[in-house]
Amino acid sequence: MQKWVVANWKMNGSKNLLNEYKNAFAESSNLIICPPFVYLGEPAGLKLGAQNIYQQPKGAYTGEVSAQMLAELSVKYCLIGHSERRQYFHEANDIVRAKAETCLRAAITPIICIGETLEQYEAHQTTHVLEKQLAECLPNGTGFWVAYEPVWAIGTGHTPTIDEITAVHLMLREKLPSTTLLYGGSVNGDNAAAIFAINNVDGALVGGASLDVKAVEKIYNHASL
Ligand code: 13P
Repeated sequence: MQKWVVANWKMNGSKNLLNEYKNAFAESSNLIICPPFVYLGEPAGLKLGAQNIYQQPKGAYTGEVSAQMLAELSVKYCLIGHSERRQYFHEANDIVRAKAETCLRAAITPIICIGETLEQYEAHQTTHVLEKQLAECLPNGTGFWVAYEPVWAIGTGHTPTIDEITAVHLMLREKLPSTTLLYGGSVNGDNAAAIFAINNVDGALVGGASLDVKAVEKIYNHASL
């Protein structure tokens, strides 16, 4: 079984990095790259995802990008509600949901990110927090993916234990039987095999390691079980 690898470059990368990806991967692979908007227009020969979208179809929203524009560039996926969007751009659950609905209308698969903060994790509130995010962020129907990204695991080198990821993904699977479920947060070439082996983890959302194509190749090699 081939699991997914979704590369979230965040506000990093370059045309060079895009070329390295083009040389290393084929469009047929289960790899989705989410570079900054400006690189989405380059003919990549890879599955493309955006990191964000604006929820209105068009209009006087200076600096924003619409679903239709992304669809025109053959963007098929879009990260929605990443914790950095929530933290720095104040995206609350209702906005996350509106953005996800906008994606679905444009035949773009929203990858809806959820996750607890360190404080919530330490207070054993993970399940409660995730259930609330699911209730408030998910659009009706199907067609979306969900990425579990504990905020405290992002860019820190710390991950939940295998048992903790297993428990969260079981909870998610029970609620979302046919949804693609990703885990994200400090995934690298060394821990990817163990993470991909977890039941109900359909792939990984990779941040920092996605800036090094050799590391992505290593992760991808573990994604085939
Ligand atoms: P890191 O892999 O750098 O922890 O980032 C995870 C992430 O935020 C992916 O969206």
